[in-house]
Amino acid sequence: PRIVILISGSGSNMVAIADAVKSGDIDAEVVAVISNRPDAAGLQKARDRDIETAVLNHKEYDSREAFDVSLMRMIDDYEPDLVVLAGFMRILTPDFTRRYHGRMLNIHPSLLPKYQGLHTHQRALDAGDSEHGVTVHFVTEELDGGPTAIQAVVPVYDGDDAATLQKRVQIQEHVIYPIAVKWFVEGRLNMHGNEARLDGTPL
Ligand code: GRF
Repeated sequence: PRIVILISGSGSNMVAIADAVKSGDIDAEVVAVISNRPDAAGLQKARDRDIETAVLNHKEYDSREAFDVSLMRMIDDYEPDLVVLAGFMRILTPDFTRRYHGRMLNIHPSLLPKYQGLHTHQRALDAGDSEHGVTVHFVTEELDGGPTAIQAVVPVYDGDDAATLQKRVQIQEHVIYPIAVKWFVEGRLNMHGNEARLDGTPL
């Protein structure tokens, strides 16, 4: 299976997946890493791993629709079986999410359906939650709203701030995202209607 990974920033989740592919743990090929930001640090990390990179700068587009059309063309050139959003900080148009329906995953740093959107760690702290975490989910038209594939839970400690909590969550991100990708490329994880299933069982 062919995987395209979209990033906007440091690319640590991309690295976790790429390294799981390289070690043979995930039987697939990362055919491209695409960033909407030319300065994304993850681009160099991809090149260091001999992964093809491409940049599509959203600032060069007048509209979200025009950008997404170009991005779809760029992605489709690589003929991926799976599109992985790994810190890709863009709201996607319905045409885009429909095109990759059932074959696009995202990672979101909260226990969805809690805290869709930004500043999830601070929001968990402000709410006084004793647990926080991270979710890998299929992407649908609803922002951070598609069916969950896997979650990891972390404790919230007294004295945590958004930075300490984020660090604890990110360690788990790098564990669960490669697992979800592995399940998908092995054909074990898929979408039926608006439901995620693992080995045929609803998650
Ligand atoms: C992660 O915290 C992810 O949950 C969020 O964006 C961040 C991406 O980090 N959506 P990285 O670029 O993978 O290091």
